[in-house]
This record gives sequence, structure tokens and C-alpha cells, in this order.
Amino acid sequence: MNQLTSSKSGSLKGTITVPGDKSISHRSLIMGAMAVGESTVTGLLEGEDVLGTAAALRELGADIYKDDYGNWHIHGVGIGGLNQPQKPLDMGNSGTGVRLLMGLVATHPITATFTGDESLCSRPMKRVTIPLTDFGAQFSGNEVGTLPITVKGANMPMPISYKLPVASAQVKSAIMLAGLNTPGITTVIETIPTRDHSERIFKYFGVPIQIEGDNIHVTGQVELKARNMAVPADPSSASFLIVAALITEGSDILISNVGINPARTGLFKTLIEMGGDIKFENERQECGEDVADIRVKFSNLKGITVPPERAPSMIDEYPILCIAATCATGKTVMRGIEELRVKESDRIAIMVNGLKSCGVTVEEHDDGMTVSNSVAYGNEAIKTSLDHRIAMSFLVLGLCAEKPVTIDDGSVIETSFPGFVELMNSVGARIYP
Ligand code: S3P
Repeated sequence: MNQLTSSKSGSLKGTITVPGDKSISHRSLIMGAMAVGESTVTGLLEGEDVLGTAAALRELGADIYKDDYGNWHIHGVGIGGLNQPQKPLDMGNSGTGVRLLMGLVATHPITATFTGDESLCSRPMKRVTIPLTDFGAQFSGNEVGTLPITVKGANMPMPISYKLPVASAQVKSAIMLAGLNTPGITTVIETIPTRDHSERIFKYFGVPIQIEGDNIHVTGQVELKARNMAVPADPSSASFLIVAALITEGSDILISNVGINPARTGLFKTLIEMGGDIKFENERQECGEDVADIRVKFSNLKGITVPPERAPSMIDEYPILCIAATCATGKTVMRGIEELRVKESDRIAIMVNGLKSCGVTVEEHDDGMTVSNSVAYGNEAIKTSLDHRIAMSFLVLGLCAEKPVTIDDGSVIETSFPGFVELMNSVGARIYP
């Protein structure tokens, strides 16, 4: 356990960069591992989740290493070339890592066991094992469908057409990745759009992919071209800095090179509607992704009702939106987000309980929460429940609370945002052990 405390700080000032995008980092490693030849990746997130995916891909036969300049090199095995792993693949805390790799393994003639930490071992996996079974893969584990699970990949995979029952980019991507080593055309039908990093990176690596309305068609067993990737900074990580600047008087920060893929910017849109002074500068495209520098200044926020249909574009950002909401006049209503209950923790329950223990007025709903403008007063030790985003959100709350806010375990932040405390403090925050 590694307690951290944050206290009321002065204005936040400076130009900073946050680590690479987690979703794109996982996908860059996976695509590089499936390509023939050497791919390089700059700006890779070196958080525990992504390093876990790199380790698993090495176990599956790819050669992956970092050079002295901080760039990552991947020598892929080619489609169909995955090796039989010699030990269980421990994916730590990472839902993205495990679900995407299960998809990849499902259509290779190998057997792999996936496991993870206590949080990951309680998360639902049937959402991927059910469609992957249709390709011909076999799964053995417990009745409830949680890790550890052993996947016996199909010898002769069959292409499938599958309509997603939940709005989940992880499930969509697992099926698309299974389609890579499947002859013919695999189709995913997505009625509620989710982040499209897989679609973009498939195109970038030369996979024939066609998008027709809700249908995503992937043609399998085509050789991937090794590519060089530049991973933009993670908008989900930038969100902690953005909210911190919005709620801390006098703040003015610039965060460079942030991914602004429209499927990820729901929180920015919401904060702007709440009165947040957030500007995109120098908008550009890099390696198939939209990127900008983001300037944020302290703002007087007002509560709003967040449109439920916006949820997929900000699904990871509700914990930090709750913190902005405590500083916004009136009420902020967040509904239609029952998926938050199966993230790294039950984010609805954990946020509601944590906020209440800090004196914030908050109401829990089955499918969300309503947060009212409140003066937060800190707490003994907020339970982070192995959830990095809960940990960072409560540390941001401490910057504007009456008394310091302490979290019980800051080590979980390493999964997605190594250097969070140092970076926050470099712009003027007060976070300490
Ligand atoms: C992710 C998809 C989302 C998100 C997660 C990353 C991805 O999960 O919460 O942090 O990279 O595909 P779901 O697919 O479960 O919504």
C-alpha cells in the first residue's frame, strides 16, 4: 500500500505532455507483433497495462524491445505465426490487454491461459468468449466467466458476423483481431459507435477493412505491413490535468500532442458545455489519429445533464467528471452509464461512497449518479479498489478541498499514468506521500 495525499494548491501553470494513449499503445504492439518485419513505436505508454501486453506478446513469439532513445521496436511473427506460450499470460489490471489478446489467440492453433489481478479476475469475460466461440475457439474456466480462463484457439477458424450486445470497443476489437487469422470476411455490427482505434490502425497496417453504416468488415489472412507508429498523448490521462486546471483558481496550462479522436472527446465537449475554457490549438493528423495541443484555464463551471448517448466517447472519464461536478454550480446528472459498474472497480459505487465520505452531496442511481455543488472536506483514506482512475480523481479533488484528501493506494496509478504525481506537482499541485 502506498498512501498519497493532495492538498489545496495555488494556480497550475505550465506546458506539459502526458504519457501515450493506452488504447493505441496496446493496439500498436499487437499490430506490430502480427506484421512481417520491424515496426517501431514512439510515444508508447510505458504503464503496467501496456508493458503487460508487450510481455504477453513476447511469450507468444514476437520480439519487442526498447532502444536507448526510448523508441520501441517490434519484430512481428506474421498472421498465423503466434507461438504456444510456455506459461500463463498474466495481464495484471488490464481489461483491454486480456480481451484483445484473447481475440488474437482464439484463431491461432495454440492454447493459452489468461489471468490477472483481483480486479481483473472479477470482470466479465463472457462478452468476448461467447463471440470467440463462434470462430471455433474453446474456453475453459469457471461458470461465471471470469479469469483465469484457458483458450484453445481454433485450428480452422470460421468467419462470423456478430452484432455487439454492449457498446464496447474491447469486444469489437477482440472480434476484429480474431478476424485477422480467419479466412474470408468477419463482420462486427456496432449500433452504438465506440472508440475506433482498431479500425484506424487496421487501415494503417494495410488490413482490408470496409465500414458500411453499422457494419465493420475485416478481410482475414492478409499479410500486414510493418509500420512506424507515433502514439499521441492519452486524452483520458490529460483529463485529470484538464479538470485540475479548471477547478484551481488562476490556472492556465497547455498540454501538447493530445489525441482528439472524436470517439474519445466526450468529456472535453461536456466540460465546455459546463463553461470550461478549453481550446484546441494546432490540430493535425498523425498515423491515422487526430491530435491537438490543448489550452485550459480556470473557469466557473455550471452543472449540466450529460446526454447518455455521449457515454461511449467518455466512458473512462466519469470519475474525473464527478470531481469537476463538485465544483460546478447546481447539479451534474450522469445517467446511462451502468457499464461503469464493470470497469476496474464498480466506479458508480466507489465514486459515490468516496465523495460522500468527503462531504460531497451525491445521489446514486442504478445507471449513474447525480453530483451537487459541494465544499469537499477531505477524508482519512479513500479506497481506490485497484482502480487507477479512482485514485487520480480523488487526488485532483484534494486540490480544491477544504482539507487534504488521502487515497489508500497510489501504486495503481502506474497502470496508466506513470509519473502522474511528479507531473501534477511540476505545474503547481501539492501531492505527497
Ligand atoms: C478500451 C475500451 C473501453 C475503455 C477502456 C479501453 C479500449 O472499454 O473503458 O479503458 O482500448 O478498447 P470497454 O470496451 O469495456 O468499454
